[in-house]
Amino acid sequence: EAAQKDGYDTFMLKEIYEQPHVIQETLRGRIIEDKIVLDELQDIDFKDYNKVYFVACGTAYHATLCGSQVLERTTKLPVNTMVASEFRYNDPLIDKHTLAIFVSQSGETADTLAALRLAKEKGATTIAIANVLGSTISRDADYVLYTCAGPEIAVASTKAYTTQLVLLILLAYYVAQVLEKNIDHELIDQLNTIPQYVENILNDHAIFENYAKMLENLHDAYFIGRSLDYASVLEGALKLKEVSYVHADAYVAGELKHGPIALIEEGSVVIAVATQPHIAAKTMSNIQETIARGANVILLTTHGEEVKNVENTYYLPDVSPTLQSILVAIPLQFIAYYTACIKGCDVDKPRNLAKSVTVE
Ligand code: G6P
Repeated sequence: EAAQKDGYDTFMLKEIYEQPHVIQETLRGRIIEDKIVLDELQDIDFKDYNKVYFVACGTAYHATLCGSQVLERTTKLPVNTMVASEFRYNDPLIDKHTLAIFVSQSGETADTLAALRLAKEKGATTIAIANVLGSTISRDADYVLYTCAGPEIAVASTKAYTTQLVLLILLAYYVAQVLEKNIDHELIDQLNTIPQYVENILNDHAIFENYAKMLENLHDAYFIGRSLDYASVLEGALKLKEVSYVHADAYVAGELKHGPIALIEEGSVVIAVATQPHIAAKTMSNIQETIARGANVILLTTHGEEVKNVENTYYLPDVSPTLQSILVAIPLQFIAYYTACIKGCDVDKPRNLAKSVTVE
């Protein structure tokens, strides 16, 4: 096992550091000049569809929350994003004009597989995004796209998540391209630079290790974000609770005043993500509301945003806001990882959790 860890203390850490490489692998051959190439889907006539469902569980669900927003914006097709265990029991409105996309690292999650079968029965065209070659989901779906993350051993998903984000963004832009929508070619260009940016963020690990010290003696942590940043904070909070057992919740920043702010007191830690320029100023003002009530804030944002009174601010590289979802995952993974290490938790095998949930 030590040999498999390649000199890292844990599989989770090894997998965090593999991200530049596996993102590169997931992009390989899929961007040619400024065109997205997904030959696996060339037989689909996207004009036949009037709505899209995204379905997944756990971390993969958080990836779909980002991917579905991007697809809706680029293609103008209405999207629905659902946790698989809800989808299968809620009589989803599906017919032959529905495209249903299922995301699963293992390709074996029972609820996601059952949801896929239901969508097929109701006539949808199904696409699986999977990591494990030949997994059940990849055999059952009409079409399959693979993330190229390689084997993910740690229970807490890291590299599978970021490669899912990359592939979902590629998919959104691919569909837009086929439907002849206006496309942000700069974003497609920037996708190729993401592995290098991820590498740069990995080199800042000591900063996030310091942030983790703020969480060591706390029972609760609060994550806030808006728009795509909300998907990111949901995943950040899940990562923290999975590996460090710190109770963490993620809130749409605009909802703070409708309840969660009642919990903020002297010494609370708020982890805020504000990478979306059209809405960052609003999140900044929510941050001030928590500071006024005694919170210590960790802020992950981009240059150009006006930041006041936040000592612990990390600036992400300057790329398209859509791609920040990939980059901001890295600091959030590190914060969870180091918090778990400081607390002496078994990072790779958190209590009560399984890598793949093959029972309902
Ligand atoms: C389990 C794992 C999570 C994972 C989820 C969905 O809960 O612990 O890390 O996100 O299942 O798994 P899948 O293989 O379908 O992506």
